[in-house]
Amino acid sequence: MARKPFIAGNWKMNMTAESGKQLIQELKPLVKEAKCDIALCVPAILIPAMVKAAKGSKIKIGAQNVHFAENGAYTGEISATMLKEYGVKYVIIGHSERRQYFGETNETVNRRTLAALKNDLCPIVCIGETLEDRESGETEKVLTRQLEIGLAGVEDIKKLVIAYEPVWAIGTGKTATDEQAQETIKFIRKKLGKMFCVKDANRVRIQYGGSMNAANCKGLMAQPDIDGGLIGGASLKKDFATIVNYNK
Ligand code: PGA
Repeated sequence: MARKPFIAGNWKMNMTAESGKQLIQELKPLVKEAKCDIALCVPAILIPAMVKAAKGSKIKIGAQNVHFAENGAYTGEISATMLKEYGVKYVIIGHSERRQYFGETNETVNRRTLAALKNDLCPIVCIGETLEDRESGETEKVLTRQLEIGLAGVEDIKKLVIAYEPVWAIGTGKTATDEQAQETIKFIRKKLGKMFCVKDANRVRIQYGGSMNAANCKGLMAQPDIDGGLIGGASLKKDFATIVNYNK
């Protein structure tokens, strides 16, 4: 079965209820004919308003993080049940900014992933190497650890999405080349085949992320193992629709 392409935006800590609503209204007619799945992962406080704004369109609203507990004394955190109550379908887990600035580890990524799956949310699990890892030839080792620990105990790998985001390409304007992204994502799929089974690994959607934009999306999406994109900067403007319509 062919994998359905999936283009997701990550607004990070950008947009307001007003500007977000406006952008979604602009995007709606532009993505009407899209053949791929589409999501916008927005700041938690904007979720209710953006779900309402996107209603009746192909755009699904996602979150940017989820706590691993069902509820309890975790000041400032948001549970999977709370996200679901507002119509959230996807949740980004383990984004490199969370790993870098907020102490996220492969272990907490694992706990969040299991909590999301348990509550029928689709995790977008982010993995990726730093420039230092790549230059010292550690990329495969780092990715292997992120996958083995991050996905431990997952029963059905097909229920999640992997986003391969080389840290050196995020927000830097420095995209991985089509070949670099394909080669690494192929490695990830092979690794998933060994950890789970080849049949399931061949059905998992793996996105590329890191300075993907309207100009470079076609080349990346043409690669056999790349099933979509996780888009930061370019998801804050109309360009996002051009990426969604990469095949037109
Ligand atoms: P970018 O961000 O597209 O702005 O590089 C991607 C991401 O962090 O998900």
